[in-house]
Amino acid sequence: MAVQISPSILSADFARLAEEAAAVPNADWLHVDVMDNHFVPNLTLGLPVVESLLKATSTPLDCHLMIEDPDRWAPAYAEAGAGSVTIHAEAAKAPVRTLRQIRSLGARAALALNPGTAVEPYEGLLGEIDMLLLMTVEPGFGGQKFLDMVLPKIRTARTLVERHGGQIWIQVDGGVTTETIERCAEAGADVFVAGSAVYGADDPSAAVDALRSQATATAGRS
Ligand code: DX5
Ligand code: ZN
Repeated sequence: MAVQISPSILSADFARLAEEAAAVPNADWLHVDVMDNHFVPNLTLGLPVVESLLKATSTPLDCHLMIEDPDRWAPAYAEAGAGSVTIHAEAAKAPVRTLRQIRSLGARAALALNPGTAVEPYEGLLGEIDMLLLMTVEPGFGGQKFLDMVLPKIRTARTLVERHGGQIWIQVDGGVTTETIERCAEAGADVFVAGSAVYGADDPSAAVDALRSQATATAGRS
């Protein structure tokens, strides 16, 4: 289980996104939070910004769509060149079709679950996804406190994924810091989104290294 770090540009300076992307050359992904002010009470950015960012960085983009009607909008992010496109289970009306479209357009397909959404009802979708995102805060804002209540769900998800063959990545997003990352890794997560812990640090690149080494040490023990 290789540890991957995906800094969230939600905590970066939106007026300098190319420089902010370049500040974390050691990141595996750049996490892009697309919010529509309907699915979540916040508004961020959409496809035009993603298209510009794709031209400005060689780091693959991990697009997390916190929007209503992802069935309509998600394929365009894959078509634009995002490396991974995540839709929320709570918002998708045709997840099988949408996840298949994302894959057929060459991106990794991922399904996200809010803290209060159980994972077991989605076991049947594991064959359609490359990554499961378990939110460790309520989606909408950076800098929130990590929700420990999600840890048992990460363990359950790890068991389901292993039963399924172990190829699906488990991503955690929200409140992931050097204080909380070990708990997530120990529970079975392998892809870690971090916004404020990376872009709020004096040296974002060093913060990525610190998170990675902590998670790797823990993953190696569990
Ligand atoms: C929250 C977003 C997160 C956010 C995480 O809804 O999905 O990606 O940027 O920020 P931190 O790491 O500060 O909790
Ligand atoms: Zn996110």
